[in-house]
Amino acid sequence: MPAPVLTPAEVRAAAARLPRARLAHLPTPLEELPRFAARLGGGVRVFVKRDDCTGLLLGGNKARHNEFLLGDAVADGCDLVVWGAGVQSNNCRQTAAGCAKLGLECRLYLSRGHYRTEPQGNLLLDYLVGAHVEFTDAALGPELTAFLAAKADEFRRAGRRPYYWNPPRVVPLAAVSYALCVAEIAEQLAALGLAPDALYVSSAGATGSGVALGKALLGWTCPARLICPMHWPWHIPTRTADDANAAAERMGLPHRLTVSDVDADEGYVAPGYGLPSPAGREALHLLATTEAVLTDPVYSAKALAALVADVRGGRYRPGSVLVFIHTGGVPAIFAEPEKVLPER
Ligand SMILES: Cc1ncc(COP(=O)(O)O)c(C=O)c1O
Repeated sequence: MPAPVLTPAEVRAAAARLPRARLAHLPTPLEELPRFAARLGGGVRVFVKRDDCTGLLLGGNKARHNEFLLGDAVADGCDLVVWGAGVQSNNCRQTAAGCAKLGLECRLYLSRGHYRTEPQGNLLLDYLVGAHVEFTDAALGPELTAFLAAKADEFRRAGRRPYYWNPPRVVPLAAVSYALCVAEIAEQLAALGLAPDALYVSSAGATGSGVALGKALLGWTCPARLICPMHWPWHIPTRTADDANAAAERMGLPHRLTVSDVDADEGYVAPGYGLPSPAGREALHLLATTEAVLTDPVYSAKALAALVADVRGGRYRPGSVLVFIHTGGVPAIFAEPEKVLPER
């Protein structure tokens, strides 16, 4: 028997069985972008889901994630959060913020990569909300994940109860929050008498798993384009489907995705993770100058670039409703303004 199509209220009810800390400003607005859409041509309608406005220290997708992750940490009696990513990590900034609000100690291990380490952008905000910051040369991905597990072990041996970036535990929970975001979009579009013809989001991880799951739960057949900001040393569609299925399991739902349900596009990463692309810059400036909505060059602008390219390529009929889920990331531009400044 196929799994049932759910209403947004039923998706929310399924998520309600999980511990949750209220941290985000929800629902985020869904706004139409008429001047931006007109510049693209093709007669499409473009909406932005303002998850750059989730609150929690300047917004972004991790505010939603952290409602479930830090909710899990608190329910488990943890007293310390051990987290890590790049120096300009939006994830770490919002996790540090959530920890401050919930009274949890936050230890951040930030992978240097090519980043400067003076306090600017996300790093400045980490310090301001009281996170303990250390830099490491462990590379993003499996090496940093193993490093964080070892740190958590050290704290455990010292008598602490750490909650740490442990992908099989945290990624499905974070994905639940984006199934809920899709349910929010469904209600907001329904109030306008609309249904989506496509969703776009920057993700190669939990956010995309949640969006793909949310779409499946609601029985939507439109594409959910997951525009990857980086390559990972694993097959992203397989991992995305696996994490979506683990999220459905945590929600007590029978729905299961296969690789063919995941539209993950690694074609917008170039010239590399963290580096601006010409198409991303163009999309960023077009949205900023027509609608005064900022994106960031590492994540959201690359997803927006995919939307721009698909519309210009004639993928959608006039009147199509396209939803760009804006995952935030803007604080990083203050650390590296050269990545966003227009040519002068
Ligand atoms: C602004 C922004 N957008 C998108 C993403 C991707 O999220 P996910 O790791 O859930 O795919 C991130 C991750 O750090 C981010 O900071």
